Amino acid sequence: MCGIVGYVGKHKVKDILLEGLKELEYRGYDSAGIAVLQEDNFSFYKAVGKLDNLVQKTADFNPEGFAIGIGHTRWATHGKPTELNAHPHLGESSYVVHNGIIENYQEIKNRLLADGVRFLSQTDTEVIVHLFEKYLKSEPTPFDAFKKTLAELEGAYAVLLATKSLPDTIFFAKNGSPMILGLSEDNEKIFASSDAPLIGHAKDVLYLDDGEYGYVTPTELQLFDKNDKAVQPSLSALPTSKLSAQKEGFRFFMEKEIYEQSVVISDTFLGRIQDTGIHFEELDPALFDDINEIKLCACGTSFHAALAASYLFERYAKIRSSVEIASEFRYKEPLLMKDTLFVVISQSGETADSLETLKMAKEAGLKTLVICNVDNSSMVRLADASILTRAGIEKGVASTKAFATQMSVLWMLSLYVAKKRDTLSDEEMLHQLQSLREVPNSVKVTDTLHEKIRRLSKRYLHGHGFFFIGRDVFFPLALEGALKLKEITYLHAEGYPSGEMKHGPIAMADPDLITIALMPKHMLYEKAKSNVEELSARDSTICAISPIEFDKADDFIKTHQRDHYMLEFFEMMVALQLLSMEISVRLGNDVDMPRNLAKSVTVE
Ligand code: AGP
Repeated sequence: MCGIVGYVGKHKVKDILLEGLKELEYRGYDSAGIAVLQEDNFSFYKAVGKLDNLVQKTADFNPEGFAIGIGHTRWATHGKPTELNAHPHLGESSYVVHNGIIENYQEIKNRLLADGVRFLSQTDTEVIVHLFEKYLKSEPTPFDAFKKTLAELEGAYAVLLATKSLPDTIFFAKNGSPMILGLSEDNEKIFASSDAPLIGHAKDVLYLDDGEYGYVTPTELQLFDKNDKAVQPSLSALPTSKLSAQKEGFRFFMEKEIYEQSVVISDTFLGRIQDTGIHFEELDPALFDDINEIKLCACGTSFHAALAASYLFERYAKIRSSVEIASEFRYKEPLLMKDTLFVVISQSGETADSLETLKMAKEAGLKTLVICNVDNSSMVRLADASILTRAGIEKGVASTKAFATQMSVLWMLSLYVAKKRDTLSDEEMLHQLQSLREVPNSVKVTDTLHEKIRRLSKRYLHGHGFFFIGRDVFFPLALEGALKLKEITYLHAEGYPSGEMKHGPIAMADPDLITIALMPKHMLYEKAKSNVEELSARDSTICAISPIEFDKADDFIKTHQRDHYMLEFFEMMVALQLLSMEISVRLGNDVDMPRNLAKSVTVE
């Protein structure tokens, strides 16, 4: 997720901007830049890669006295990580930084291109500054031009804009992406995407709400709400510690990342769910020409996403799908056919085993697609095509939001391929699209759910192991739930197909065997129920997760009635993530940095 900083004041503007961006590094980025306006003169610097590259570039730039400045760390969503695509983006006399996605940027860009505007970057953001400068020529004031610009933007944005037309002013707007404004003792203004950069500089903070916008000068703060009504800012006190600021009040990064899945998945969907189908701007539809099989390959949690996706591709796109564990695939001398699309799924884009399988597929002449969270990673650079999951940086070693966004992309991709192969009726497609739109809502964490899971977690701190069981796509989800438990509680667990328990594992059933049973209403409920009853009859300890009351379980986590099994999948995913986290907390483990694990396994 991108990071934004802004400053209006007379202290060392460059240092404040760079230190602020450094405090936002935890949000993940692949390029950065700053722009400073002082005495009607703009200076700007951009650099790809780590922030130190920008620090070096600005070593000889040390403005003194009053200035305004804006800065940005970019997590690429539209356009590769390059200096041209790095923010701030400039017009003739203005600069802008932006976090979020402008869904209708292409339509605006086409209009501006027709007006003769020259674009330097591939980003959606650049349309903001050119649209603003177009309206500067027609509107009575720069603020009117800014308001008219905002009125045309659709999507999520946190925007800071500076212009020579008003060299002591920063215009700001917030809608769907985070931005806050800090006020110092001597009334200086500091903008940031989160609290961390403000600590030590600001005394009070204004947490902007969606739809709010306005401008600041050395002496003014003008704030307007989404109904264009001037409002009195309500200021709060700042948290004291930077680390807690980066966790935004949560106990762990993993907890924060579970809670932000709803917002993050909305980003994943932006610009991709259309009225009658799915649109992936980064895909050439020809990628799927002459393809009769999809082979998915990954490790760990990403493998579980791949396995779940295989059900969706066969069910909706009627295309043969197979799934491989990368470390096995590498050495099994696989048969690779040219009519197979090879799809690698990876959060980091650097996992050694997965990367090697991608090389094998390319050497065998297969078309390759990567579903990844990190633009410019080794896999993204190597594959024929890539789809970014837009989860933002995932700090918790145990993957949560990366898995959620992988599943969101894969569900969309199964519908995208179904459309291309004409295997779904218009009515069915509309039902799928409507259900997809419900995903952000289905992963929202409620206090009731979290408190229920926190309380029942005390019963699951021992026993001779856990089974997580499910059918259909809930079997890969069971595997994922088991992996979450293993990696942050160090307790033994395994995911198993519900229907397979009677073929051996049921011999283990006794009160010390704990079974977490996924029992969705809209996917083989009766079958799953009878499997669980077989365990219950043998006195196994059972925690059932279902929208339907089930009285043969020792514990029951009630989920919502949903009209699509995939929405049940996402809601149960959150319950499993919280369960593992709360058990880990009770055991006193390091939730974010479990022993023996690395966030990206770049060795065999
Ligand atoms: C997931 O919780 C684990 N951290 C691990 O299994 C991870 O999914 C696996 O190492 C694959 O990583 P990747 O998605 O970055 O390729």
